Amino acid sequence: MAKLTVVQFLRGQLKSFPPPEKRDVSGKTVVVVGANGGIGFEAAKHFARMNPGKLVLACRDAAKGQSALVAIKKDTGCENMEVRTVELADFDSVAEFATKFEQEEARLDILVYNAGVAITKYGAAKDGWETNLHVNYLSYSLLQLLLLSLLSKTATTYLTRPRTVVRLEQPALLGRCARRRTVKSKNLGESERQSLLR
Ligand SMILES: NC(=O)c1ccc[n+]([C@@H]2O[C@H](COP(=O)([O-])OP(=O)(O)OC[C@H]3O[C@@H](n4cnc5c(N)ncnc54)[C@H](OP(=O)(O)O)[C@@H]3O)[C@@H](O)[C@H]2O)c1
Repeated sequence: MAKLTVVQFLRGQLKSFPPPEKRDVSGKTVVVVGANGGIGFEAAKHFARMNPGKLVLACRDAAKGQSALVAIKKDTGCENMEVRTVELADFDSVAEFATKFEQEEARLDILVYNAGVAITKYGAAKDGWETNLHVNYLSYSLLQLLLLSLLSKTATTYLTRPRTVVRLEQPALLGRCARRRTVKSKNLGESERQSLLR
């Protein structure tokens, strides 16, 4: 994809958003992690309009999750929602969430890992890992691994293609920075330079 110039970017900000994609997810189970605010809340609302079999709002604070549920229900009329709690800064909580989910749910079609933090001051989470690393990457990997068999079972039982979605800005950005460093440190021709930066 071509890169936007500053002018193109600014022009784009003045345009209205394209209409959101509409899909029918009848019968499917969708989990949005970090659904009580920001992008996760909007994503959950969007799924709520797609007629999901079940929409799970996975939040660390049950009360915040419940108010999100009420707000989404009011806005979309979706009835098939529930709140589950998970604290991503704690591996035990992630494991408990995944184990219970697997025991209690027959299927998992879409897992949206949206929750994340961007803490600038160093601090360790409960298990000793730096908090950004713990919440944004380690817990995500753990949750994904623990739910993999249910995703796979869903695929074979219901002949569908389950998927997980993760907001990728930070890893993508880190990858791009690393590529830029490589480009700077090597004496590359223009075409090699462009293909690395793409
Ligand atoms: N907005 C942007 O411009 C932008 C840019 C780059 C990347 N992102 C990434 O996109 C995602 C959503 O962004 P946003 O702006 O919507 O963020 P946000 O408004 O801060 O919402 C983050 C969500 O993650 C939850 N969360 C945070 N820490 C958690 C934990 N330890 N355990 C469980 N849930 C936790 C929050 O719950 P609480 O309400 O309980 O805190 C909230 O529901 C984030 O991962 C963010 O890093 C956003």
